[in-house]
Amino acid sequence: MAAKYIVVLVAITTLMLRNHNVGATELIVGDDAAWNVPGSPETYSTWASKHTFSVGDVLVFNFVNGSHTVALVNKNAFETCNTSNVNSAIMSQSPVRVPLQKTGQLHFICTVDDHCLSGLKLSINVTDKSPLSPASSSTPPANSSPTNIPSFAFVASSSLMLFFVNL
Ligand SMILES: *[C@@H]1O[C@H](CO)[C@@H](O)[C@H](O)[C@H]1NC(C)=O
Ligand SMILES: *[C@@H]1O[C@H](CO)[C@@H](O)[C@H](O)[C@H]1NC(C)=O
Ligand SMILES: *[C@@H]1O[C@H](CO)[C@@H](O)[C@H](O)[C@H]1NC(C)=O
Repeated sequence: MAAKYIVVLVAITTLMLRNHNVGATELIVGDDAAWNVPGSPETYSTWASKHTFSVGDVLVFNFVNGSHTVALVNKNAFETCNTSNVNSAIMSQSPVRVPLQKTGQLHFICTVDDHCLSGLKLSINVTDKSPLSPASSSTPPANSSPTNIPSFAFVASSSLMLFFVNL
């Protein structure tokens, strides 16, 4: 009887850890400030410098619909706030979610009025998640942390076993 419980609990523990691990990191642009004309023009470069951006993460831009937009532009358009040089559709429905699909620099600006000139723009460098492991695009996300998670699961399930053995 106890053995059955242990098997079930170990399975549940392992599943929970797996699912937790699979979830992509969501990065809320600007944190509490969200995507709004900032008080200081450096707001979003400061925010970017405090975060790491990895392939598989998702950028989330929150704003009031109709107030702002998010547009992907090249570096020159980013620096000059040239809104006629947009690389993709202008995204205007908040929340705008941008999955980071490859490494490299990405530049975003707001195309409304002169918001970009006031600092409503973001430039990030997207890197590989684990620079120490060989980059392999064929590796499924579920196996992305093969070292730490199983040992934690082992500790967790060992504790559960001790608990039942003591009953
Ligand atoms: C903005 O970009 C467009 C398209 O590349 C270009 O024709 C225009 O001259 C640029 N404007 C400024 C002010 O740089
Ligand atoms: C913006 O509009 C979309 C589509 O109508 C809606 O789903 C979304 O909830 C709105 N976002 C906000 C922040 O009001
Ligand atoms: C991204 O990397 C480039 C060159 O590697 C660097 O010049 C630039 O400042 C970086 N941008 C950010 C936002 O870290």
